[in-house]
Amino acid sequence: MRILVTGGAGFIGSHCAKRLAAAGDEVVVLDKLTYSGNRANLEGADVEFVQGDISDGDAVGGAAEGCAAILNFAAETHVDRSIFGAAEFIETDVLGTYVLLDYAREHGIRFVQVSTDEVYGDVSEGVSSKEDDPLRPSSPYAASKAGGDLQVLAAVRTYGVNASITRGSNTYGPNQYPEKIIPLFITNALDGESLPVYGDGRQTRDWLHVEDHCAGVELVLREGEPGGVYNVGGGEEVENRDLTARILELTGTDESLVRHVEDRPGHDRRYSLETSRLRSLGWEPRHTLADGLPETVAWYRDNRDWWAPIKSGEYLEYYRRQYAARLS
Ligand code: NAD
Ligand code: TYD
Repeated sequence: MRILVTGGAGFIGSHCAKRLAAAGDEVVVLDKLTYSGNRANLEGADVEFVQGDISDGDAVGGAAEGCAAILNFAAETHVDRSIFGAAEFIETDVLGTYVLLDYAREHGIRFVQVSTDEVYGDVSEGVSSKEDDPLRPSSPYAASKAGGDLQVLAAVRTYGVNASITRGSNTYGPNQYPEKIIPLFITNALDGESLPVYGDGRQTRDWLHVEDHCAGVELVLREGEPGGVYNVGGGEEVENRDLTARILELTGTDESLVRHVEDRPGHDRRYSLETSRLRSLGWEPRHTLADGLPETVAWYRDNRDWWAPIKSGEYLEYYRRQYAARLS
């Protein structure tokens, strides 16, 4: 099948584009190459690449020609950046999703929206979010993703678009831009820099390996129901302070690098996903943090050429704005 993978030069999209190409699908990647998009993520992959914006109907029309499905990974994705300003988040995550959906409607093709557990907001100890739970996004990022999800559900109901949604939990693995906690803390530790833990560090995330995330999205693409929403959660709930301790150990560094800094405004305390719907299609996570985290640390250790150039220019400006006062 010919598939348009939007955001396919980013972290999860590039792993999925390579996975689909390896499975024999014809893959076209449409990516704007924002700060987190990176052509190097697709090096050696058997995919066509088009640079363009998902909110631009002409760019979408050109790239999607002949495709039987669209997989939408393209998004602004970082909560902390969305707190500084959400205009780009709304443009890409809401308007861009609408433009893609409109194409899928006009051409009668399949559409999968790659969304996030953050649309549910945080949940208390002992509770896991289910697909039909109300959306209670806390951050401007999560609100934008929720807006995209609602556009998808409305298009299914109003126009009968053959669309499904996946809601993945916090994802980690090779090729992740070093702003989210795992790649940020690994690369900082490898450079002997501080690890800025927000607040008390007792917030919990439900960790998912990128290959397990892609397997879930692929299964939903091929077997998901129209209008179906599917949680993709790794089920490994870990407090940030424990995750930090594991990264210190794996990088051969120690507690002296840890700095507890001012908390993120509106910080969600705990995410947890109930995943029986996707499991009933035959999915289960194959990686645990016990194998995935050492493998990820080894990847960053061996691929300094990939991340060292990223940690310059725009990145340093963002880093100063985000952390300078907190760390001073
Ligand atoms: P990423 O930031 O690494 O990649 C995003 C990609 O989208 C980049 O290549 C970027 O250039 C591209 N992009 C951004 N705006 C675009 C636009 N207007 N038009 C075309 N391309 C554009 O993000 P990621 O972590 O790979 O996330 C991919 C998807 O998965 C997102 O939709 C995100 O919401 C979702 N998700 C991520 C996680 C996670 O933990 N990383 C968890 C659950 C869901
Ligand atoms: P992040 O990787 O930004 O993902 P998300 O906010 O989408 O869950 O953050 C994961 C957790 O790590 C979250 O509780 C915030 C925390 N965190 C820190 O403590 N320090 C940091 O520098 C970052 C980036 C995150």
